[in-house]
Amino acid sequence: MTQVGGHTERVRQRTHEGFLRYKGFRWAQFATALCVLAIGAYFVTATRLGRPPSGNSWLGYTLGTVSAGLIVWLACLGVRKRWITDHHYSLKAWVSAHVYLGLSLVVLATLHTGFQFGWNIHTLAYVLMMLVIASGAVGIWAYATLPSQLSHNRGETTRKQMLESLEKLDQQIHDVAQPLDRHGAAIARLSIELTEIGGGFWTRLTNRHGDCANRRALEQLRALPSSASARQAEALTKIEELMQQKAEVLALARRQMQITAMLEAWLFVHIPATFALLAALTAHIISVFAYW
Ligand code: HEM
Ligand code: HEM
Repeated sequence: MTQVGGHTERVRQRTHEGFLRYKGFRWAQFATALCVLAIGAYFVTATRLGRPPSGNSWLGYTLGTVSAGLIVWLACLGVRKRWITDHHYSLKAWVSAHVYLGLSLVVLATLHTGFQFGWNIHTLAYVLMMLVIASGAVGIWAYATLPSQLSHNRGETTRKQMLESLEKLDQQIHDVAQPLDRHGAAIARLSIELTEIGGGFWTRLTNRHGDCANRRALEQLRALPSSASARQAEALTKIEELMQQKAEVLALARRQMQITAMLEAWLFVHIPATFALLAALTAHIISVFAYW
């Protein structure tokens, strides 16, 4: 089992490294050339005009149109991803172009604005674009580093084995709890019946399980007055050990879930911010033509 899991993660890592280096950084080179060209044109125009060219200069319109075209194309990746094709590598080319052309917008769109920012819809479009780009960069970091953290955290234990050990521990707590009085039995039930491994997306992402039932059960167990009967005392000591072991397995499983959630979290910014950007950009373009 571990072998199979490790292999899948290696493949995932390789494909995500793969798109960054795709065809000898072809898209990185193309995007860099585009930026150098735009910076060159900006300085030549600024020297000719005697002032920085703004959004309504010919260069401003060119850079604005190229940037808007790129944004619409970049936003189409979601649609492209969902097309089923036999050409696995064509998606890799798309993602490679997506990353580098997406980054080139930092230069192209910034030069388009002529560095004229204010509290208006134009700057809102710009800020949203930067938010999409920054979240994309976080995504690249996530894909590059998290899969190895996943296998490191898990060690030799598979997800299935973690769940099996939790089930086994619950069964053992149940069996050992038999001689306990009502109060002790309620504490054992609290751990067995109410412990949630995961929870909502936010709980998994922050790995905050402050009200974990197993933890509460352990606290209550430790606060119990010393037992009258030796049999009860022995059962309580054994249950405390088992709950402690359960807490350790839970910590491992929850860290695993946290890393998996981090692999998705950036998309919760990247995708909605893309939609907001498309709306603000449409408003920007309409408004500049309305005031023409
Ligand atoms: C077809 C595409 C575009 C066209 C036709 C266009 C047009 C213009 C025009 C005419 C201006 C000058 C407005 C003025 O001086 O009053 C301008 C400024 C600006 N544009 Fe664009 N634009 C386009 C795309 C973009 C994109 C993609 C962004 C960023 C996401 C952007 C952000 C801005 C900003 C921040 C300014 C400065 C606003 C200001 O002067 O206060 N534009 N744009
Ligand atoms: C304004 C620019 C950008 C727009 C509009 C944009 C939009 C999108 C959209 C719509 C998706 C598809 C998400 C899905 O449906 O799962 C996507 C995926 C992605 N974006 Fe962007 N993006 C932009 C810039 C960037 C940048 C600069 C980077 C990296 C530095 C980046 C990295 C990614 C990655 C890694 C994916 C996931 C690809 C995969 O699932 O294999 N994006 N983007």
